[in-house]
Amino acid sequence: MRTLRLGVLASGRGTNLQAIIDACQSGLLRAEVAVVVVDKATAQARERARRAGIPEYFVDFSAYPTKEDYERRIVSILEEHGVELVCLAGYMRILTPVVLERYRNRVMNIHPSLLPAFPGLAAQRQALEHGVRYTGCTVHFVVEEVDAGPIILQAVVPVLPDDTVDTLAARILEQEHRIYIEAIRLYQEERLKIEGRRVHIL
Ligand code: GAR
Repeated sequence: MRTLRLGVLASGRGTNLQAIIDACQSGLLRAEVAVVVVDKATAQARERARRAGIPEYFVDFSAYPTKEDYERRIVSILEEHGVELVCLAGYMRILTPVVLERYRNRVMNIHPSLLPAFPGLAAQRQALEHGVRYTGCTVHFVVEEVDAGPIILQAVVPVLPDDTVDTLAARILEQEHRIYIEAIRLYQEERLKIEGRRVHIL
């Protein structure tokens, strides 16, 4: 099987990006991070990419007249690097059809809750404040509606009585790193079949 070319979009710390890079390097994934694009000049994800010898681009949203123009620049970078699957890894902007139509069913996201519970920002805080006993994380295909695309994998994480947002987020993050790699591996092996809202694992 050939090597899958990934493009990763990130906004911050980049631990999910790092997990993907590590899985590519260790051979756990038959894939390669071809390019990393960030929307924040200070994103730690840039340093992680550089250290791994991966080309990284900061695309400054405020430098473009419209969001569509900004995303056209992102698409051109992804195309230039032959990207086949786009992985959102803590990318904190909502994608428009400019990216989504070009990469239909080829954009994945990791979200720190059991969707459809707690979409949007601060999902771990939302779960804690709601008082749920269990939360977790979700890898899903991205569609125009936020955090609503077909679900690929989920992992359940218990909420402990003395959890803070930070301790809960850290426990969820461990599972994020695990299921994101697993979802990319299933995609790489062509074992994901989308049927309406459901993703069948072949
Ligand atoms: C992760 O917890 C990810 O699930 C979340 O941002 C964090 C990024 O961490 N994403 C979202 O909330 C998307 N709505 P990282 O930069 O260390 O991978």
